[in-house]
Amino acid sequence: MKDDHTLSFDEYDEIVNPRPEECDFDRVVERALSRRGFMGGVLAMGSFAAVGGSILPTGARAAANRFSFEAIPVSTADDVIVPAGYKAEVMVRWGDPLWSDAPEFDHATRGTAASQERAFGDNTDGQDVFFHDGHVLLVVNNEYTNRDILWGNNPDAKAASDDDVAKGMMAHGVTVVEIANSEGGWGIVKDSPYNRRVTPQTDMTITGPAAGHDLMKTTADPSGTACKGTWNNCGNGKTPWGTYLACEENFNGYFSAEDENHEVSPELKRYGVSASDWGYGWAKIDDRFNVAKDPNEPNRAGYVVEIDPTDPNSTPRKLTALGRFKHENADTVVNNDGRVVVYMGDDERGEFLYRFVSDGVYAAGVDTNALFESGTLSVAKFNDDGTGEWLALTPETTGLASQAEVCIHTRQGASAVGGTTMDRPEWVASNPNAPEVYCCLTNNKNRGVKPNAGGDDTSVNGPNPRDKNNYGQIVRWRPNGGDHTAAGFGWDLYVLAGNPTVHGDAYAGSENVNADNMFNSPDGLKFDSNGLLWIQTDGNYGNEGDFAGQGNNQMLAGDPVTGEIRRFLVGPNECEVTGLSWSPDRRTMFVGIQHPGEDGNSHWPEGGESVPRSAIIAVTREDGGLVG
Ligand code: FEO
Ligand code: CA
Ligand code: CA
Ligand code: CA
Repeated sequence: MKDDHTLSFDEYDEIVNPRPEECDFDRVVERALSRRGFMGGVLAMGSFAAVGGSILPTGARAAANRFSFEAIPVSTADDVIVPAGYKAEVMVRWGDPLWSDAPEFDHATRGTAASQERAFGDNTDGQDVFFHDGHVLLVVNNEYTNRDILWGNNPDAKAASDDDVAKGMMAHGVTVVEIANSEGGWGIVKDSPYNRRVTPQTDMTITGPAAGHDLMKTTADPSGTACKGTWNNCGNGKTPWGTYLACEENFNGYFSAEDENHEVSPELKRYGVSASDWGYGWAKIDDRFNVAKDPNEPNRAGYVVEIDPTDPNSTPRKLTALGRFKHENADTVVNNDGRVVVYMGDDERGEFLYRFVSDGVYAAGVDTNALFESGTLSVAKFNDDGTGEWLALTPETTGLASQAEVCIHTRQGASAVGGTTMDRPEWVASNPNAPEVYCCLTNNKNRGVKPNAGGDDTSVNGPNPRDKNNYGQIVRWRPNGGDHTAAGFGWDLYVLAGNPTVHGDAYAGSENVNADNMFNSPDGLKFDSNGLLWIQTDGNYGNEGDFAGQGNNQMLAGDPVTGEIRRFLVGPNECEVTGLSWSPDRRTMFVGIQHPGEDGNSHWPEGGESVPRSAIIAVTREDGGLVG
């Protein structure tokens, strides 16, 4: 089990923490009723129609076409494909050295712990660009590493030494790197004073309600306020004051115990921590990851981490006020009254969608650290009638002992107040042109089949209307009165992904999905400055059965007003397309290509017999025009 690299994080967690099957006749009837409730609810919104019908606001169909490209077909080539008039060039790859005294990537050995610590990390994910004092700084999450590839030079593709394990560790974290556009195109600036690797060993400060709580104290840190490192950083966020938010997602898969029968606490079990790790072996080289020795160490992961990219000596801050779960990204909005609102998904089957509202307001001269130290954390409840509400998570509402415990055991608090179980909330993106917010619900094969890890019912519900949902959907909500701090909101579905060439029912997808633009498993999500919504996929690339005709993972653009969706880019074999940002002049789009060849069938980007390497590509128009 430990060595099966084909399992997803969720699948692995379910094997080590099996959930009861729950699929009796009563439940089937309940599901059917819920589905009808959903359809009635969405129709009740007036300007939106239900699944299988148009979701387009009437009158918007004739809106001007805001796409600047012709849609491209699917692809199963081991290459990046973009529309005519555009070009895509590789800018930086896993293992590229950030300093001139570090070696180039070695395809034969895949480097060492020491070389990896001085190089761009693996599996690029969330990213953002910062413009500081005339320098363009790219900050990128390096979510995880493919062990079959990292250790593929060893006979059985396993770690052969402690240095192999440490190399894997150093491939994780965050990379800060200056980039520049020269005649040869975009590239990294080696030896820039801004270049930095943040790794699972970097010193961090714990902030917010959980700082100093007994559950945060460990052998190495009896104060419970200073921890080391960040890992499995998935999506990201960017604050109005110019810091980067790295979101810790599947942090649990790195802890283990020597005794594989060691039982962790129910609280850790809810987060998927167990005696077995995911094959990384970190406990072999660092006792922090031995959950039998330091059972509080996992309580110090699963947060949003704030990093100042302009100061390479700054200490990253873990923001416990924003809650602990498998954070996807952190979409930040300054509300009309100046309070800072952060929308966040917990990416696991049947987990929740959250909102943080700061107590303080963002204004010139304000202590921005304080904004993320106190506020109200809430979980979303979606009603089937197209309305919803944010349920505050406090000791009073959750029954937990303190706000510190709410911030550590956030999932348990959300279950206690009755948040809506979701189909794996991935990225959240707020529309810069309207008070509305979108979230990718990537897929959920357990919808209507079994409860979530906390035992919560996962029958179909309003925004999650299909059982055994293997295509995913994008939900959007509009805060009441355009106020992102309001308790209530209205919601609808922007798109139900599906396959209209295989299915004739709700699994065909919504009306804005057709044979020419279909996709599965929406994941990355970001608006450009024009208000187009960019959708990146992390789905099934088998191109057969339910996924016939959908090709490799891809990136599409959606018009939030008309509902039209066009395919813009297709990635190489077995990759995920994730992470998106723009150059300050908006003439280049940076797109992340993660885990090409995760099942052994890619040599992208270098071709031949080279090792496949995750990379960030720079996409430009051949006429030098704007790309977003
Ligand atoms: Fe790392 Fe939920 O994707
Ligand atoms: Ca993701
Ligand atoms: Ca995903
Ligand atoms: Ca991924």
